[in-house]
Order: sequence, then C-alpha cells, then structure tokens
Amino acid sequence: MRPIPRDTAFDSSLDLLREGFPFILNRCRRYRTDIFQMRMLGLKTICLHGAEGAQLFYNDEYFARKGAIPKPVQKTLLGENGVQTLDDQQHRCRKAMFMSVMTRPSIQVLLDRLHEQWRRSVARWEGQQEVVLFEEVQDILCSGACAWAGVPLRQKNVRKRAADFATMVDAFGTMAPRHWRGRAARRRSEKWIMRVIDKVRRVEIIVPEGSPAYAVAFHRTPEGKPLSRHMAAVELINLIRPIVAIAWYITFAALALHEHPESRPRLLHEPGYLELFVQEVRRYYPFAPFLGARVRHDFEWQGYQFSKNTLVLLDVFGTNRDERQWQRPDDFWPDRFRNWQGSPFDFIPQGGGDFLTGHRCAGEWITIEVAKQAVQWLVNLAYEVPEQDLSFSLSRMPTFPRSKFIMRNVWRLDAPWQIETAGAAGAGGCPYHATRP
Ligand code: HEM
Repeated sequence: MRPIPRDTAFDSSLDLLREGFPFILNRCRRYRTDIFQMRMLGLKTICLHGAEGAQLFYNDEYFARKGAIPKPVQKTLLGENGVQTLDDQQHRCRKAMFMSVMTRPSIQVLLDRLHEQWRRSVARWEGQQEVVLFEEVQDILCSGACAWAGVPLRQKNVRKRAADFATMVDAFGTMAPRHWRGRAARRRSEKWIMRVIDKVRRVEIIVPEGSPAYAVAFHRTPEGKPLSRHMAAVELINLIRPIVAIAWYITFAALALHEHPESRPRLLHEPGYLELFVQEVRRYYPFAPFLGARVRHDFEWQGYQFSKNTLVLLDVFGTNRDERQWQRPDDFWPDRFRNWQGSPFDFIPQGGGDFLTGHRCAGEWITIEVAKQAVQWLVNLAYEVPEQDLSFSLSRMPTFPRSKFIMRNVWRLDAPWQIETAGAAGAGGCPYHATRP
C-alpha cells in the first residue's frame, strides 16, 4: 500500500480560503502528485487532480453524492436535496427529467427567446451612455430562461428576480454576508416558483408539454409519486438559475475579447472559431473550483487506500490547467481546442463523465450555445471600454471582473444577419455535438 501524500498544514481550511481556485493545483505541483490528503475543518479529505483522478471520481461504483454537498451550499446555490445530492436509481430518474429538456428543439426555443431579449436590450443600450454588462446580461438570461421554462415574469420584476438568482450563485464559496444574502434570495425565489408550480399543476398557467415547467411539475419519482411542491421548485430553479449563471462566462468572454482584440475579426469571419473561443473561455476563466463526493466502501486505487465515507474533492480548476494535457495552460489560446480529442475527463469546467448516468452538468450544451450567441452579439456591437478595474480575484468564489465590465457608447454594427442565423443546434464544430440528442 502506498501512503497518500499529506498536505503539511495541520488543517488546510484557511489556506483553501486564502488561495481559492488554485489551492489543489498548487499542492499537486508542489508534491508532484495527482492525489494528496489534508484536514478540512478537522476532517480527513482526499484531493484528486487530472484526467485519471476525474475518471476515478466519476466511477459511481466507488463514490456517492449523498452527504457530500455542504448544507450552506445547498441552502444558497443548489437548494436542499436536489438532483445533485441523489445517487443510483433516484438520481438517474431525476436526471432523465433534466435531460428531457436538453434536446436540440428545446435549446433552440431558449436561444430564440434570448435573441429577442438581446435585441431589446441592445436597442436600449444604444440610447444609454454606459452599460454594466454583467448585470445587463443577468437580466437578459433571466427573462429568456423564464420564457423558455414557462415561468411568467413581468418586465418590472426582471431585475429583482435576476439579482436573486445571481445572488444565490454568488453565495456558494463563502460564509460571509454574501452567504446570508444568498439564503434570503433562495427563500424568495422558492416561494415564487412554488406558486408557479401550483398554477401549472392546476392548469392555471398553461405550459407546453415538454417545457421545463411541465417536465418538473408532472415528473414522477421511481415510486410513481409527483415531486413535493418545494422539491419541484428547487428543481425548476435548477433549470433557470444556472442559465443566469452563464452571465459569469459571458462577462469573462467580453474580457477575453477586450484583451485579445485579434479574436474579433476571426470570430466574425472564420467558421468554427466561435466554438473554440467559447470552449477556451470555459477552460481558462475560473467558475467551479472543485466537486465533492463520498467513498461508498473501502477500495484501493493505484496502491492508495480509500476508506468508506471519506470526503473526496475533484480539482475542476486545476484539471483544466493540467500541463500534461494543456500546452501553455495559463495562456488564453482558443486554437488549442482544434486538437482536443473530446475526452469526458480532461476538460471538466461543468463536471465530467456521462450526462445521463452521472452528475455531469445537465446544462453544458445550453451553456456553450448561449455563450456563443452572446459572443456573436458582442462582436456585432461597437463600444468603448473606459478605464476600469477589470482584474478578478482567484481567492473569491465565484469570481468576476471587479468593475463588472462597463461599456460606453454602444451601437449595433450593420451586420445583423450574422446574429439572426446563429442557431443552436448543429452550429458545427463542437466536440459535444456527437453526443447531443
Ligand atoms: C455557467 C455555466 C455553468 C456551470 C459553470 C455549471 C457547472 C456545473 C457543475 C460543476 C456541475 C456539477 C457536476 C458534478 O457534480 O459532477 C453542474 C451540475 C448541474 N448543472 Fe450546471 N453549470 C452551468 C450551467 C448550467 C445550466 C445552463 C443548467 C441548466 C439549464 C445547469 C444544470 C445543472 C444541473 C441540473 C446539474 C446537476 C447534475 C447532476 O447532479 O446530475 N447547469 N453544473
């Protein structure tokens, strides 16, 4: 049996808070290993890094999610006892519900709704001196996501609801006031969405069969029961809130465009480059730092002993920057994706493994397509980027450019056809297309 390398700190919790995203990567580089153990809040925790580590982590013979997601994260970001915490048959049945709305036609409906929101917002921005992109995009995504989901949302309430969804996302990595704001935002949102679920079930709101609200409201558990109204609200929010979270990537995409202006003409004229650009945004910019699971039963891997119930963390940030896989990992370089083979374990910004049987993000295809649509809008706009603080902290989770990306004197360039034809499904080039329904 090989001993698992140990972090030298007696308890690593404070170092994790101080270092943030690169915490696991820093130690894997320091100890020249893909695995080490540490104490976190006094408990033994094993960290895994790299594609092989991810492949192990996603083997559900060895790992379960029950008891792996801290309550503070459930009470803000995810909701309590949602799909992320389920295992085995319960998980597969719930996950099938999520994946049932991830078809090409359904994603196209979402993109059409979002296109309308982009059009309206851009028309308004043309009359404004300044635009704070991060917040504006949250509003666009929230309106479009609710329209797609079948959740009525009046224009006057968009900012309030979008801010609540964003506040839940912003709360996941902290116990500070942000956490308490996240809990309050979740309470308000769940109350609202529970009322929507009731109305859908009583057919007071008529939603198309197959729409997200329909899929959730009328879902049956493996025991043949409907979800409780609270559970249904948690899961419907699990389809809307993460669409609002794409605002993080879109804001980073705007930053990448600003810092790499040579991308702009390529995005406008080079077929396939848009997809490479968006993939690199998801690889390069930090969002999910790591994921947790618990060991189901004692087992041995590569000579290392894993004991039942131990918490194991998979390094999401560092696996996307593993230099064995990614040449010049700390450079923003979209062309790297031309040669990427599409492994489910080496590029894991939204988790790895299988969509249907595992916990890989249900909304990864949506994220790619929605981000592509946004980048198309951005390259078809002219705007100034005034002096501002565009830096972001790697110890803040989640993180975003401090100034939230301010744009001045926005106007739409005269090539709207390029946006009108931007479609979801089948836009080509994406390694995931092979596996999309
Ligand atoms: C900013 C974009 C997004 C990021 C960074 C992201 C990230 C993630 C991550 C890291 C996971 C956990 C994977 C695991 O536990 O192994 C996850 C799960 C999930 N995501 Fe996303 N996600 C995003 C967008 C979306 C969208 C747009 C949707 C739906 C519309 C969505 C729905 C879900 C669901 C339902 C799960 C739970 C899957 C399961 O437990 O089986 N996500 N996401």
